[in-house]
Amino acid sequence: MKILGMNASPKGAQSQTLRLVRAVLNGAADEGAETELVDIYRLKVGYCTACGVCYAEGECTLIDDFPDLMEKMLDAEGIVLGSPNYIDSVTAPMKAIFDRMADAVHRQLFSGKYGCAVCTAGGSGQEKVVDYMNHVIIALGGTAVGGVGVAVGRDPNAILEGERDARELGKRLVQSIRGEHRYPEQEVIHRQRREYFSQMVRYNRDRWPFEYEWWVRQGAIREI
Ligand SMILES: Cc1cc2nc3c(=O)[nH]c(=O)nc-3n(C[C@H](O)[C@H](O)[C@H](O)COP(=O)(O)O)c2cc1C
Repeated sequence: MKILGMNASPKGAQSQTLRLVRAVLNGAADEGAETELVDIYRLKVGYCTACGVCYAEGECTLIDDFPDLMEKMLDAEGIVLGSPNYIDSVTAPMKAIFDRMADAVHRQLFSGKYGCAVCTAGGSGQEKVVDYMNHVIIALGGTAVGGVGVAVGRDPNAILEGERDARELGKRLVQSIRGEHRYPEQEVIHRQRREYFSQMVRYNRDRWPFEYEWWVRQGAIREI
């Protein structure tokens, strides 16, 4: 079982958020998973230009590190998203990655995957950013198993407690993949979203032939 951790802080080894991502991965490893960590700031990921070629042809026109990262995500059973709070949101490189995943949302490519999110903030907003990243996991068709947010500026010891919680979260992530925890409310959302996106793609089949043929191959819609 593979778990991919992504940290979107520019501070490299000094990142507080990295401590939480690492703790999640350590918890996952405790449960027997193989883990990999990617430092998002070392990658070159361009901005989506809304050209629509991914919907129509399944390929992006930009040449950069995104396709390799996407391949790693698709190869993993579990995804850990980590970002500091920058003005009550994720950092810009993490958002650039999300924006490159519009086709992945249309095709619900995280179906069957599990994920979680961690965030550190100076003073506040960490839970809001965790919720946003987990929302993205669900938007992609995946199941969000929980999150850890820590305000590091208010209490220097808070990160230690956060690391303990993050390690437990990593264990829960692997246990969830093994089917030891259920998320019935999210199962309902997944069914609704698969129905919604397969039908939306069907209505737009002339513009989005790649996604249309993909959903037909999935057996979710009948060829017209
Ligand atoms: C550009 C920028 C924006 C930030 N915005 C916020 C904010 O809105 N709220 C907050 O509490 N902390 C904010 N911070 C503080 C960081 O979230 C905090 O230092 C975090 O722990 C950094 O994580 P890192 O060490 O992993 O980079 C901001 C920091 C920077 C550099």
